[in-house]
Amino acid sequence: MALTSYRDEIMHMNGYRCIACAESQAADFAGFLCPVCGGNLDVTYDYAAIARVVAAGFDDSRADLFRYAPLLPVRETDSAFPLRVGGTPLYEAPRLGKSLGLRNLYLKDDTVNPSASTKDRASAVVLRRAMDIGADVVSIASTGNAGSSLACLAASLGLRAVVFVPENAPAAKLTQGLSFGATVFAVRGSYDNAFDLCLAASDEFGWFNRSTGYNPFTREGKKTCAYEIWESLGGRVPDRVVVPAGDGNLLSGLWKGWCDLQAVGLIDRLPKIDCAQSDASAAICNTVRRIRDNGESNPEWSTVVVDEVNASTAADSISVDRPRDGLAAVKGVLQSGGEAVSVSDEAILAAIPEMARTTGVFAEPAAAAPWAVVKQLVRDDKIDADELVVCIVSGSGLKDIDSVKKTIGKPLLIDPTIDAIKEVG
Ligand SMILES: Cc1ncc(COP(=O)(O)O)c(C=O)c1O
Ligand SMILES: [Zn+2]
Repeated sequence: MALTSYRDEIMHMNGYRCIACAESQAADFAGFLCPVCGGNLDVTYDYAAIARVVAAGFDDSRADLFRYAPLLPVRETDSAFPLRVGGTPLYEAPRLGKSLGLRNLYLKDDTVNPSASTKDRASAVVLRRAMDIGADVVSIASTGNAGSSLACLAASLGLRAVVFVPENAPAAKLTQGLSFGATVFAVRGSYDNAFDLCLAASDEFGWFNRSTGYNPFTREGKKTCAYEIWESLGGRVPDRVVVPAGDGNLLSGLWKGWCDLQAVGLIDRLPKIDCAQSDASAAICNTVRRIRDNGESNPEWSTVVVDEVNASTAADSISVDRPRDGLAAVKGVLQSGGEAVSVSDEAILAAIPEMARTTGVFAEPAAAAPWAVVKQLVRDDKIDADELVVCIVSGSGLKDIDSVKKTIGKPLLIDPTIDAIKEVG
């Protein structure tokens, strides 16, 4: 997909830099991967110019993530995005925090995005980009949420979405994609098989590929989550942000968001970014631990190889063998001084009703992983009671009720009488 006509229309994006070898590309570079080493690309900006624009504040007339247009690789435009993406609430969670003695616990509730996951942030920015270059078919490989997200937002814009998911993706996510009118391919095999097929098919048919991590603009959408947390906290910076990780793109986005805010002079310190994974899908955590075990915190990035695993977690959204934005995520954890913690699937599933009962926020397994990890960090004495901790709740519990059903009771089946209620107590 040629991006050549785009250059002069981007206000502040000024190119790309490779996450691995740091080689730069101009803003009109047409590929998605580094031509030198094949690494993922990071979008770069003229931060000095942005600093001058945002010194006056962001656009208060916009409630969605395009409020942050000066920091995004999109044309600043008056035309509103048809659905509201971003602008999600940050809730204090005093009862949940109190259960562990934490006094400043917050949940960033990204379940209220249009397709009920944080993936909408990436889809919105990628679709805006796709429209700017005249693409009318967008493709994606997904564990489920990113596909339903792309299908949802593409429907709102009248674009065609082609979605590749592993055949065992949860029914709700498939049903969403189909309802939104996407072409959904359920691929016999894993997410990683779906990813490779999407890549090949997009090349073959000339589709604009939104696949997570591979497409550099996905990180640009996800980073807006950090901006919103910062604004919701009245300009304070959390001590740590706990992020569920599969491909690692949400995590690398959260890290970039805070770094952007610092680069334009809006904050003067950065939070730790903690990586939350399942023991059964811990490629990023394993890599961070290996690097730290070698006594390193800032290795020569071009030489770092991210681990691969045979993922098999019930938290299907973060079940990934080969994290497609793994290096950027590993960098985010190490550069921020965060923790990389994997927990059991049992701990992740138990976290769902714990969060739901004390906060009213219903998370799918992947989205409950950060709370399970916070519990582990408290057990390991790694969090102080007064730290300001934000857990990213990245997807709705309604997306995968089969998993949570295992951890909660059944309804009390009764005859329609008052006596029956009294009997069961
Ligand atoms: C609900 C949810 N949480 C977390 C993630 C992890 O995001 P990433 O794959 O960018 O690490 C995903 C990815 O599909 C997701 O759907
Ligand atoms: Zn490179």
